Amino acid sequence: MGFDLDINEKGNLSIGGADATELAEEYGTPLYVIDEMRVRDNYRRVYSAFTKYYSDLQLFYACKANTNLAVMRILQEEGSGIDAVSPGEIYTALLAGFDPQKVLFTGNNVKNEELQFAADSGVRINVDSVSQLHRLAQIVDPADFKISFRVNPMVGAGHHEHCITGGEMSKFGVMEKEAVDVYKMALELGFEPVGIHTHIGSGILDPEPFKLAVQTLMDIAGDVAQNTEVDFEFIDFGGGLGIPYTPEEHELDLDKFAGEIVGLFKDKLGQYGIGKPTMCLEPGRYIVGDASYLLARVNTVKQSYRKFVGVDAGFNTLLRPSMYGSYHHIVVANKPQAPEVEAIDVAGNVCESGDLFARDRPLPEIEEGDLIAIMNAGAYAFSMASQYNSRPRPAEVLVKEGESDVVRERETFADVLNKQNVPVRLLK
Ligand SMILES: Cc1ncc(COP(=O)(O)O)c(C=O)c1O
Repeated sequence: MGFDLDINEKGNLSIGGADATELAEEYGTPLYVIDEMRVRDNYRRVYSAFTKYYSDLQLFYACKANTNLAVMRILQEEGSGIDAVSPGEIYTALLAGFDPQKVLFTGNNVKNEELQFAADSGVRINVDSVSQLHRLAQIVDPADFKISFRVNPMVGAGHHEHCITGGEMSKFGVMEKEAVDVYKMALELGFEPVGIHTHIGSGILDPEPFKLAVQTLMDIAGDVAQNTEVDFEFIDFGGGLGIPYTPEEHELDLDKFAGEIVGLFKDKLGQYGIGKPTMCLEPGRYIVGDASYLLARVNTVKQSYRKFVGVDAGFNTLLRPSMYGSYHHIVVANKPQAPEVEAIDVAGNVCESGDLFARDRPLPEIEEGDLIAIMNAGAYAFSMASQYNSRPRPAEVLVKEGESDVVRERETFADVLNKQNVPVRLLK
């Protein structure tokens, strides 16, 4: 068991047909490398798995996973829509060429200016609370304004408790028991509610909670359809499809998963006479997670009380290990087939003890100058990167058939200082 690696004739790791060591030489490190075809294939895999069973499908790529414009452009070309959670994501989606009607804004604790921005942008608004509904009614003319609601189905799942977004501890959505009332409220205000949405969490490899959420949301939709005038144009089950991060984890059986989800969906459509709404999903991680590597150069091998391999990236570039204790597989890009000889710690260059990419990880003999490739760094990686420790954020390159393009330039110190001002009185 393990991850399939592309190894070129020189024995180096190859990403999208490009030699990882050459990319590191050309663009410097740390460096994000995004494999374009992997993004496209992932999208196509999800799309075809579900359309095999139900043709009226719309995917909204959850761009919080990776907001690189080139990545978003690729997904626009593939036919995706966008799940946006902030005005910045709406702005980026429109810049990437998405039709506003294919952008679903699911904000949380949204302020009026943000609602105004979303309304002015012409995107669809997925309402998260009764407060938001009433404020939206003041901001737009509700007549003919189509909305949907995010509902908490009281089912949650995810790879870490911070990533569980359903259930009684969750801040997201309206309660399932108030769903009929909020749809009635929306109708009374003059809105046209046309959709229902949920998103129960992120990093789900076990289909069961997802299936339960689908059933529950469909029962809620049925209740709404039978007790109000609402005619659903779309039903959105959110994202959350997980990917294996450790070599031991199994990937989702997408065909089986899609068949089961669509089966439940269709049964409930029939049971409640809901018609044939568009089925929506919002995968983020699944589309981009395994499409990127973070390359980092080993600059220090230190034998302390433990053996540390120190690299020129840190949690400012990839937060997941420090934030969630997440495992990211590491290969040595200049000798990916070398045998594992010892269990060591791989540490970043941020001044915090928690800045570790791996603890006690079996790895080959590593020397200073080696290049490590941290796998599955496409989702919630650059999008969570920061300038902590006043470190400029890395560059991103997009590779396809061996060709590479810089799709985000490496930041400079000036970028880190950008927008800061020292008051004149301190300059005397
Ligand atoms: C509303 C919404 N949809 C979709 C997603 C995508 O989740 P994932 O990247 O796990 O597919 C998220 C992630 O938090 C979300 O908040």
